[in-house]
Formats: sequence, C-alpha cells, structure tokens
Amino acid sequence: MCEYCGCQEIAAIGELTREHEAVVAEIAEVRSFLRDDNVEGAAKTARRIATILEPHTAVEEGGLFPLMAQEFPDHIDALEREHRLVEAVLAEAASHTPSDPSWPARLTSALEVLRDHILKEQDGVFPASLSVLDTEGWEQVETVRARAGSGIGETENIIRTAWRGAPARPSGHDHERQPHEHPHDDRPGHQH
Ligand SMILES: [Fe+2]
Ligand SMILES: [Fe+2]
Repeated sequence: MCEYCGCQEIAAIGELTREHEAVVAEIAEVRSFLRDDNVEGAAKTARRIATILEPHTAVEEGGLFPLMAQEFPDHIDALEREHRLVEAVLAEAASHTPSDPSWPARLTSALEVLRDHILKEQDGVFPASLSVLDTEGWEQVETVRARAGSGIGETENIIRTAWRGAPARPSGHDHERQPHEHPHDDRPGHQH
C-alpha cells in the first residue's frame, strides 16, 4: 500500500482507500461464509460490497480515471474491464441468493480479481495520480464524489432498492484533460 507517497493526504484518495479497506474486510467475510457453505451469507455480503463499490466506481470512472487515461491508457482500460467483471458476478446476488451452483466459485474468483485490482490501484494509480492531477482535477473528482455519495455506513440491512436508488453513475469521460493544459504545474489540493 502507498503509505509513504503522500497520496493518502488527498481527501479524494483517502476516501477511495477507506472504501477499499471496507471491501477487503467484506471479501474476508464472504470467504468465511463460503467455507461454511453459507451461500445466503455470502450473497448478503456481496450486496454490501456492491453498495460500497457503486459510488466508489463512479468516482474512479467519472472522476479520477478520465484524468489518468491519457498517460496510462492500458492500465485504465484494464481496471475498467475488471470493474465490469466484478460487477457482473455481484449483480447476480442483487435481489436474491443465486441458485446457480457455479456462483460461489465464480464469486470467489471475482473477489480474487477485486483484491488484486485494489492493490493495483493502491500501488499504481493512486500514487501516480499525485503527479497527473492538478488542483482543478482534484476538484473535478470531488464534484463526482459529491454526486455519487458513499456506500460506507449505508451497508447495514441493505436491500436491493437502496442501491437501486443511488445516484446514477456519471457517463465518465466528461472531465478529459485538454491537451494544452499542464497538469504538473500544481500540487494537488489537500482538502476542498
Ligand atoms: Fe477500481
Ligand atoms: Fe478502487
């Protein structure tokens, strides 16, 4: 984890990191349920993960990633593909415990992808964002966060309708950096 680069001092990155930590804790819980063949418990926990990831992914794809895609197009493409893969498996449990006998194994492998994905963001994209985003970029990320909200603290007793009613994900690429801008001019702001 990027404990020394300073990216955790950026409010937007700190919040994304807290969500990663919450998701990692929920992943451990899913594994524990599946060890006990408790698919219902795993499905409930999968719903909590989806609730955390909904606004989290909106902030990444609608705020941070478009600003990084110019310098790291392959990394960002791969991360967005992983978002879709994980979402698809979690979505199978969105309204009920899946009866498909292959779901628990597919969930396990999707959550392995998610753990690696989180490490790639923590060790790659987040530290790199310090040298890519300027103050205006961080303000754009904060704007997307304000619209998306947060799934942390809303995950107890969550039901399908709660996250169906969450704010719609932004389309994503409306904050593309313009070629004439100089993103390295400013240190990112620490708070907004
Ligand atoms: Fe991500
Ligand atoms: Fe993330």
